[in-house]
Amino acid sequence: MHMPPERPRHLITLQGLPRERLLALLDRAQALHPVALGEGRRDALRGRTVVNLFFEPSTRTRSSFQLAATRLGADVLNFDAAHSSARKGESLVDTLHNLEAMGASLFVVRHGEAEAVEELARRAGGSTSIVNAGAGRRAHPTQGLLDMLTIRQHKGADFSRLRVAIIGDLRHSRVARSDLHALRALGAGEIRIAGPSPLLPDPDECVGVQVHSDVDSAIEGADVLIMLRLQRERMEEGLVPSLEAYHRDWGLTPERLARARADAIVLHPGPMNRGVEIDDAVADGPRSVILAQVSNGVAVRMAVLLDLAGT
Ligand code: CP
Repeated sequence: MHMPPERPRHLITLQGLPRERLLALLDRAQALHPVALGEGRRDALRGRTVVNLFFEPSTRTRSSFQLAATRLGADVLNFDAAHSSARKGESLVDTLHNLEAMGASLFVVRHGEAEAVEELARRAGGSTSIVNAGAGRRAHPTQGLLDMLTIRQHKGADFSRLRVAIIGDLRHSRVARSDLHALRALGAGEIRIAGPSPLLPDPDECVGVQVHSDVDSAIEGADVLIMLRLQRERMEEGLVPSLEAYHRDWGLTPERLARARADAIVLHPGPMNRGVEIDDAVADGPRSVILAQVSNGVAVRMAVLLDLAGT
């Protein structure tokens, strides 16, 4: 007799996540969409405390986890890392254990070091769940989920028909890695990546992916374009000559977008560098689904919190 697989306690990466679990999270997020946008409230997390433990800046992820938890009836603690005893040298694990001692059991963690989030998952108490809200360059699983939900809403459930291009700084992008894991799991028909060669991932991360050395061929006939933020420090590191050169060679302009299918959609995880990787006319234009991504972020984070809470 097969025992049902044990429900995972944490969400750290989409790598290796079974397709069925990924689809179940997307279905649940879709069903929660009206509640996510404030239509009524639910009490499913009443009595639970969610801690936003962010050691890097965030607008979308932190705010949407807060709204998701609040609209499900949870108490939310937005940990203030800049004014915490972490500044006096208290370790991340001690910080976690002290907050657990106050009755918190769901931790949403963003950290510049992927290993830090993974260590918290290993060291957490038996009734604690950790959600990765962005870990180094390695993974941003809820962003991957909300990107897939947005694509599914606009393009349907059959990903095998889709040509998806991810463009920009893939090497340093945790969003790109989580999108690649999810797109593979959902059986995307064609996955293309394109960016300046110093900003491409290692070859072992490109298995089953078409690597394009120019942006126009990556866009040609695509159904979905995922533009990535140019992390400006890459210019200081000498990996990009100038913002103007990047825009000229890799920026998504209306003229370039015309190479994609007429019904193509454009995603960007935010924050955007307008006029660098994407023009205003595209970001605010009819093919942009960037704000739909943001709305879906609340629904996806609700689905993940409920799933980890076992409700
Ligand atoms: N997409 C994303 O993670 O945005 P924030 O950094 O604002 O959370």
